[in-house]
Amino acid sequence: MSHEHVPQSATVYTPPELAFAMVAAARGKPGALWLDPCVGDGAFVAQMAIHGVQAAQISAIDIAPGPGAAENLARTVRETDFLEWAAEHRATVDHVVMNPPYAALSRIQGKLLDRALDVRMSDGHRLPSKANYWAAFLLTAIDCVREDGSLVAVLPAAWDFATYARKVRETVERAFGEIIVVRCASPLFPQVQEGVVVVVAFGRGAQSRTSRRVEVAGLTEMIAALEQIALGRVPPGTVTMRAFAPPPLALRRLDEIVHIHIGAVTGDASYFLLNEDERRKWQLPQSALRPTLSRSKHLVSAGIGRKEWANLRDEGARVWMFWPTNSALRHRAVRAYLKHGREGGCNMAAHKIAKRDPWHRTPLPGRVDGFMSGMSKRLPFLALRDMPGLTASNTLYVIRFKRRVTEAEKATLGVLLLTSSVRRELARHARVYADGLLKFEPSDLGGVRIPVVGACEDAVRVFRDATVLLLAGREAEASTMADVWVEGIATSIADENRTTSAKRAVA
Ligand SMILES: C[S@@+](CC[C@H](N)C(=O)[O-])C[C@H]1O[C@@H](n2cnc3c(N)ncnc32)[C@H](O)[C@@H]1O
Repeated sequence: MSHEHVPQSATVYTPPELAFAMVAAARGKPGALWLDPCVGDGAFVAQMAIHGVQAAQISAIDIAPGPGAAENLARTVRETDFLEWAAEHRATVDHVVMNPPYAALSRIQGKLLDRALDVRMSDGHRLPSKANYWAAFLLTAIDCVREDGSLVAVLPAAWDFATYARKVRETVERAFGEIIVVRCASPLFPQVQEGVVVVVAFGRGAQSRTSRRVEVAGLTEMIAALEQIALGRVPPGTVTMRAFAPPPLALRRLDEIVHIHIGAVTGDASYFLLNEDERRKWQLPQSALRPTLSRSKHLVSAGIGRKEWANLRDEGARVWMFWPTNSALRHRAVRAYLKHGREGGCNMAAHKIAKRDPWHRTPLPGRVDGFMSGMSKRLPFLALRDMPGLTASNTLYVIRFKRRVTEAEKATLGVLLLTSSVRRELARHARVYADGLLKFEPSDLGGVRIPVVGACEDAVRVFRDATVLLLAGREAEASTMADVWVEGIATSIADENRTTSAKRAVA
């Protein structure tokens, strides 16, 4: 099996007994969804089937055409770049088991290379061009694992020694609560001279707690170690590299908390969006216009109320959307502006305009709680709507909470979006355009994980102050303020839990 842009030497097959032990080490949960991002001949899929996992629960991807030996044991998708597939499948599986291709990025070509070089590490930087393809696979696979899931990967010894691997290891450690690395000194694959490591990671999204390591002599010992891990035990000879137990904060996807929709699509911004001077020139009554935010730079504070909006209006920003109510249609100035539109002032042929009736009634987003930018030089942040009727055009996203929330709860989300862990995740999901513009699709934003904390009274103040810092270009200070606040809450949750269990113990 091969692909024109991936060298054949990148492909080595996992022996069945190792594949069996790796699948067991993932500690599959009943009904869980599994992924092999580079299925090849199906070494892992075959073992998943032996472990009783149904084909419908397994996604198997490979760039090479098939069919492989275990094609029907999974939902197999071939001739597809896993890195492309993953962009649409973030946080969708519970367990990943993988043997990623091993090839220097200098030997990968075309779109495959572009996508690999776009992969980000936890510090927000992209993978360096001297990295290896396995690293791009591993980091991308992490993004596919949903909360509390696990990942098991057999990787080259470069995991331990390559310069580029240090940040990759850090990224894996940050992404999971618990990691154990089993290092085998002798080669396990006939074509590969060096030893390998098997990385087993549990507790996706949990606060990083332990990092362990065990060295084994050969395949038999590797399998024995993985069997211990599968049983929830620590293999003999394991060294704990790091152990600390900060209170874990659960994580939720942003789109579990809020709906994220594109703002109103007018079809012709130059006609429908006006500034105050244009409104005056046409003598349009306010009943024919909706107050609107139309640029990311209109998000000038944690809350956009009448005062902020009026400032934007007075500065000449386009903050009116032409949207005449039925009664306003009788107004002489409105009729004149509609006529101007029909006679060339508006691009009536634009698809969005041509297909709606009446053509001048831009569909508006429903209830709006806040706004976020989808394209800006700055990573997105939340600006709450503090002015009734204020809407946004399609350069911005509108945010609506899925359940009724208090002002403190809304502000809490605003603070959480400013924490450094969320900023790092946002940076990893950004698509970078010319001029350093960062673009996010709603699905990019929706997949970002947010720590779960209860709302606190001072959330509104912290949100406002941290956003002031952010907008002054002091992003790191804004994140520190948000982090300190969240850590304070996490510590008080832990203290409360300790007091409750102490009380229980006494009782
Ligand atoms: C090391 S082999 C592993 C095969 C099998 N999972 C096993 O363990 O025996 C790597 C596989 O990755 C596939 N591959 C390489 N580049 C890929 C890409 N961009 N997307 C998906 N699969 C890819 C290769 O075709 C090959 O089948």
